[in-house]
Amino acid sequence: MNSTAATSPSSDTPHIPVLLTEVVAALKPRDGGTYVDGTFGAGGYTTALLEAAQCNVWAIDRDPDALARGSALVSRFPGRLHLIAGRFGDMAELLGERGVRNVDGIALDIGVSSMQIDDRARGFSFLRDGPLDMRMERAGRSAADIVNTLPEKDLAEIILTFGEEKHARRVAKAIVAARQERPFSRTLHLADVIRSEVRRAHDGIDPATRTFQALRIYVNDELAELDRGLRSAEFLLRPGGRLAVVSFHSLEDRIVKTFLRTRSAEAARPSRHMPASAIKASSPTFKLISKRPVLPTDDEINRNPRSRSARMRVAERTDATALAAVAGSRA
Ligand SMILES: C[S@@+](CC[C@H](N)C(=O)[O-])C[C@H]1O[C@@H](n2cnc3c(N)ncnc32)[C@H](O)[C@@H]1O
Repeated sequence: MNSTAATSPSSDTPHIPVLLTEVVAALKPRDGGTYVDGTFGAGGYTTALLEAAQCNVWAIDRDPDALARGSALVSRFPGRLHLIAGRFGDMAELLGERGVRNVDGIALDIGVSSMQIDDRARGFSFLRDGPLDMRMERAGRSAADIVNTLPEKDLAEIILTFGEEKHARRVAKAIVAARQERPFSRTLHLADVIRSEVRRAHDGIDPATRTFQALRIYVNDELAELDRGLRSAEFLLRPGGRLAVVSFHSLEDRIVKTFLRTRSAEAARPSRHMPASAIKASSPTFKLISKRPVLPTDDEINRNPRSRSARMRVAERTDATALAAVAGSRA
């Protein structure tokens, strides 16, 4: 979910799944098939998959609140929906522990849900006052811990890298000065300090947007998680299985695009002395379904403005050995 769109004040609506028809069409659920929804959220993708075929869905979310809300769905699809608390970066292990070694399709819908953004107590919003938290898992270091303790140089680096904020150094300096007066504990305190340093741009985007996005990504280690999720999907998908990833900003999309491009590229012609197993391992593990990302239609954007920055990439698993498995670790 794009953090700009996700914090509009009129956003107290339930989470509307983004590119839902497109995700289901990409995964082509079939009766008896097994699918993973790595970002369960409000269960939009999960429900659509379970309605489209007599299939099984393993739905993962790192947010305990999302899973608690999902228990009603489990009874609606008896024996077909399994909820797992955890991270999609660990999905191969999470499913392996439950006896599932491969699956027919995986959907990832990266970012935060409307429920997370709209609940001021979760501390993701720069428009509603709440504790400066931002932890999807409700564990680990909060955003307040980060802004109150990290050296100015590190804060600037985070704000620049994950927020693409060109005034990152100035914002970091202001944060460090303000915390000496009073440590941060509330979202609006931080938003006010940022707004006092960075002027609102012509496009009307709130100056706090980029710094809040940066902190959220850092607190939840989101980009590393995405990378791990892609590798885990490569390991778990059976030949012909599909991966559909919906992302909301360029940092995420770049990771997905680069991974799929690399994994779908033919390796240099191997030596004729190379053992057959190694040749197979160096073959493409994915086939791109389309080179260009799938975008929401104008109609979807009108119905759900939060979808406007979404893009979906889809790839199909080949029968080549997963590179992560071949290397014995992160390839
Ligand atoms: C955009 S929402 C998904 C909405 C969902 N597709 C739907 O239709 O309701 C993203 C969800 O993924 C979860 N999430 C984000 N990163 C995750 C990760 N690495 N592992 C598991 N869940 C994650 C968030 O907690 C949030 O509930």
